[in-house]
Amino acid sequence: KTIDTLGDLRGRRVLVRSDFNVPLDGTTITDDGRIRAALPTLRRLADGGARVVVMAHLGRPKGAPDQKFSLAPVAARLGELLGQEVSLATDLVGESARSTVDGLADGQVALLENVRFDARETSKVDAERAELAGELAGLADAFVSDGFGVVHRKQASVYDIAQLLPAVAGDLVLKEVESLSRATTDPARPYAVVLGGSKVSDKLGVIANLLTKADRLLIGGGMVFTFLAAKGHSVGSSLLEEDQVETVKGYLAQAAENGVEIVLPTDIVAADSFAADAPHATVPAEEIPDGKMGLDIGPDSGELFAAKLADARTIVWNGPMGVFEFDAFAGGTRAVAQGIVDATAGGAFSIVGGGDSAAAVRILGFDEAGFSHISTGGGASLELLEGKELPGLTVLAD
Ligand code: 3PG
Repeated sequence: KTIDTLGDLRGRRVLVRSDFNVPLDGTTITDDGRIRAALPTLRRLADGGARVVVMAHLGRPKGAPDQKFSLAPVAARLGELLGQEVSLATDLVGESARSTVDGLADGQVALLENVRFDARETSKVDAERAELAGELAGLADAFVSDGFGVVHRKQASVYDIAQLLPAVAGDLVLKEVESLSRATTDPARPYAVVLGGSKVSDKLGVIANLLTKADRLLIGGGMVFTFLAAKGHSVGSSLLEEDQVETVKGYLAQAAENGVEIVLPTDIVAADSFAADAPHATVPAEEIPDGKMGLDIGPDSGELFAAKLADARTIVWNGPMGVFEFDAFAGGTRAVAQGIVDATAGGAFSIVGGGDSAAAVRILGFDEAGFSHISTGGGASLELLEGKELPGLTVLAD
C-alpha cells in the first residue's frame, strides 16, 4: 500500500517514520543524505494538506533522554531543506509532543524527539513496545513507513505502530525495495558485488547468500585481510579476524565450486600506523611486511576492480575499500566508485548500499546521478541482499 491509498490528506495527522540517523560532528551534520532522501515523501504529504508528524532515531541512546543524541540539528536541517520551520517536540509522546501536534496547521511538519529516548521503543517485550506504539498512534490518523534504514528493526515506531493505524509505505521505502529487488530477483548478468568495510563478521550472511547469486565478488576494505590470511598470505598488523579465517576458507572453496569468481586485491597501501599522515607504501598483497597495516587497496587493484566491473550488468557496492576519510587511503574507494560510474554510463544497473559507501560517494565528490540507486540503508540493505524478511516490510504487507 502506498501513500495514494490514503486518499484525501487534508487536515489529517500523518505520522511518518523516517531514518535520520545521520553522522554528526558535535551538533554539525556531516552528511545529510538521509534527510534529503526523506524529502519526497514529506513534501508530498505536506503539499497534500496533511499535518505531518515525523519520528526518527539518532544513534543508540540508552532508552532515556541524552542531549548528545537530540534531533535538534536534524529539525534545523530539515526545516532548511523543506523551506518551512520544523518544530521539534522536546519529548516523544508527552505534553510537548501532544501540544506540538495540536498546533500543526495543514501542510506543516513537526518532528518528535528521538524515539530511542524511550526504552520501550527497542524493548524485546512485545507488550512494552505495543504500549508505546499505542501512545504514538494517539497522535495521528495514519502511519507512513519511510525509514528504510530501520525496516530490519522490530521496534515500536517501525513495526508495532503499523498494526494500530492505517499503514502504508512511503516513497523512499518503495524506491529502495524496488531497486534492491533488481539485484535480489533475477539480476541482469554478469552480476558483480563489491564488498568492503571493516569486518567479515558483519557480512557473513550476505557473503553466504551472494555465493549462490553473484557471478563475481570483489573484496576490499578491512575485511580483505581475513581473506588474504585465509589464502596463506602474511597481513602484517592489518585488521584480521582470526576466528573467521576458517569460515573464509570455506567461502573460497564454495565459490570455486559454484563458479563464483572471487577477486582480491593484488597490492595494498600499507602504513606505519592508523593516521592521516602516517608514512605509507604500496606493497604486494601477498606479503604485507611485519608491523605495517593495510589501509587501502593499491592502484593496480583499483584498475583490476574497475576492469572487473566494466562488463557487469548489475553491480552492488557495500563498504569502502580503504580508510577513505584520509586522503592518502582514498584511492581504492575512488577507483571503485569511478568504475561503477563508468559501468553505469554503459548501461549497468548499480546500487550503492550501506551508510559508509554512500557517504564515501558524496565525500569524494562523485555526482550521485552517476549511480542508479544510492541506498540509505546499512543493515537493512544488507539483510535484503541476504534474502531475509524484514519486519518493517512484512508488517506493511500483512
Ligand atoms: C542505520 O544507521 O543503519 C540505521 O539507522 C539503523 O540504526 P541501528 O543499527 O542503530 O538500528
